[in-house]
Order: sequence, then C-alpha cells, then structure tokens
Amino acid sequence: MNQPINLFEYEALAPQYLSPMALDYYASGAWDEVTLRDNRAAFEQIKLRPRMLVDVSQRDLSTQILDQSLPIPILVAPMAFQCLANPEGELATARAAAEVGAIMVLSTMSTKPLEAVALAGKHRQQEKGKKAEGEQTDIQNPSWFQLYVHRDRTLTRRLVERAEAAGFSALCLTVDAPVLGCRERDRRNQFTLPVGMELANLATMTGLEIPKTAGESGLLSYFAQQIDPTLTWRDLEWLQSITTLPVLVKGILRGDDALKALDHGAKGIIVSNHGGRQLDSAIASIDALPEVVAAVGNHLPVLIDGGIRRGTDVLKALALGASAVLVGRPVLWGLAVAGVAGVRHVLQLLRDELDIAMALSGCTKVKDIDRSLVKIKD
Ligand code: GLV
Repeated sequence: MNQPINLFEYEALAPQYLSPMALDYYASGAWDEVTLRDNRAAFEQIKLRPRMLVDVSQRDLSTQILDQSLPIPILVAPMAFQCLANPEGELATARAAAEVGAIMVLSTMSTKPLEAVALAGKHRQQEKGKKAEGEQTDIQNPSWFQLYVHRDRTLTRRLVERAEAAGFSALCLTVDAPVLGCRERDRRNQFTLPVGMELANLATMTGLEIPKTAGESGLLSYFAQQIDPTLTWRDLEWLQSITTLPVLVKGILRGDDALKALDHGAKGIIVSNHGGRQLDSAIASIDALPEVVAAVGNHLPVLIDGGIRRGTDVLKALALGASAVLVGRPVLWGLAVAGVAGVRHVLQLLRDELDIAMALSGCTKVKDIDRSLVKIKD
C-alpha cells in the first residue's frame, strides 16, 4: 500500500508491525466488544446539516480549554505500554503531538518515565518554535497526565507530585476502572510485558510490574492487586487537595455523574467508555455526550473519546457540545507503522479532515460549530 491516506488505512497496516499479543491488547474491547463497535456505529448514525454560502476562505481550528490555548481541538488519549508499538514509545508520541500542537495525555502505565516524556514534548515544541520564525506559541505545556489511583496512596501522591514537577498541566483521573474490564483476547494470550519493558513510572519507585498469571491477563491481575477499587467522589476531593493542577474526570457516561464531578470540584469531564475496554454494552460515548453537556456544559469543558476516526466525527462531537476530542488507537497504529512520523501523520490527517469538514459545513472557527449542524436519528 502507498502511504495511508486515512486512519482506517493505518489500522489495516498496523498488524504487520505488531506482535500478536500487542495487537490484541491494543485492538480488543471487553467481552463481546459491543461497545467497541457501537462507538463507531453511533458516529455513523449522526448526520450533518451543513450551512451554505458562508465565506470559509480563512479557517481557524484553535480553541481554549482550562485557560490553555490549543491549535487544534484534538488530543492524544492516554494509552498504556506504547513501547509495544515502537521502541521509542511514549517519547515518539510526545514529539509528534507537540509538532502538530495536540495535547498528549500520558498514561500512568507508560513504558517511558513521565519526566522524559514531558521533556520530549517540550524540546520538540521549542525546535518547532525556532523553525517558524517570529511565530508566537503561547502553549505552556501540551501534556496532561492520566492517573490511576493505586491502593498505595503514598505512591499515588508521589506520582502526582512528579507529574506536577515535570510540568504536566492537568490531571485526568480515570474513574471507569475500579477493576479491569475483561478482555478475552488478553486472557487467552496471558498478556504481559515482554522482557526489557517495564511500568516506567512505577517500576523505579516501587518495583511494581505486570505479573505473569496463568490463564489470565497480567494487567487484569495488576489491577486487582494494585488499583484502588474503593475510590469514591470524596477521593476526587482528596486528589485536588494534593495538587495545584486542574483535575478532569475521565470515564463519565451520565449527566448525574457529571454533576457530581462538578460538585466535587472537577475542572473538566471526559466522556468515555475507555474505548469499549471496560463495561461491555456501556453506551457509546457520542450517545452519552448530549446528556453530559446538558448537565454541566455551561460550567465545565466536556471532552470525549471513543470511535473518532474522521474529521466529520470531530465535527459531530464539537457540534454536540464537546470542547475537544481525544483520539486513541489510531495514534498507536501510526506509532507502530512509522514511529514519530506515523503519529504525526495520523494527527495531521485528522486535523486536515476536520478543516475540510468545517469548510463544507460553513464553519470558519471552532465556535461556529453548533448543535444545529447535526441531526441524530431517533
Ligand atoms: C489500560 O489502561 C487499559 O485500559 O488497557
């Protein structure tokens, strides 16, 4: 195949570059993978109502979230173990994201240390700034940190302190994983990390590792042993008491939960079903978005991930009230196929598709993308 021209073509190419265990880990959803499929199908059900005869010769994709300026309303979703796709792993993703101006959300479960990832993104941004003469970039730091609260709160606290010290500019608290969803492909494969790859943020601190478990996913065992299933809204307050960073709550699918997040001080919501990897048959993210936006959209930025593969998907999510979207698996496919260049290309493709979709819908800026642009089938 020539160079891929869309995100689906990266997905089709990626298996050649991945071990069967890594491919299954990235691609799979929980149980029957109904939610995984629905995340896509739900986007396809939404139809657009474009506006005509608007001067769209100049278009601006930039936006603001949490007082941070973003050149595009597209972020890289947190994804674990990126060294399974490329030896540079999260460092490559950070470089590519910084080049395109997409915020990268780094997973707690990264295979490169968070300090190194923060630096990789910053360096690339500085190089980019130098190249573009006179270009002013007011992005302070384009990386956020995703947090899994471990049973060991001292360790969790230390992770948060390290993320803050390294310059991450927000925390995303994942709330949909008190236990790990059952991904049967990982069970069959007895998923674990290959020799030489580690939980880079945790191994150095505590010697934690993904166990090898007979007949089970090692990650599932890790969650059962290490991740705190007692987490409640009070812990959201605890988290905010130990950091000055804004905390977004990731994994919300209901309006009433979004209101609770607001009441407990969250600074943003990420509507997500964890890429269909947690509770199978959970509602598709894009189907949950309107309810969450109705509940808290006037007070908090609402972001969304799950099934975004086309610029029109981004447009639909923004029209339904999202401030920005996060893209997950396609970034891993790009990383597997061509490292930094692959991730950069995936993000550029999505950005360019959004740009065209905006032009064809009569939108010149992100604020023009309103609810009237979409029609949802009953
Ligand atoms: C890890 O966070 C996963 O969902 O696999």
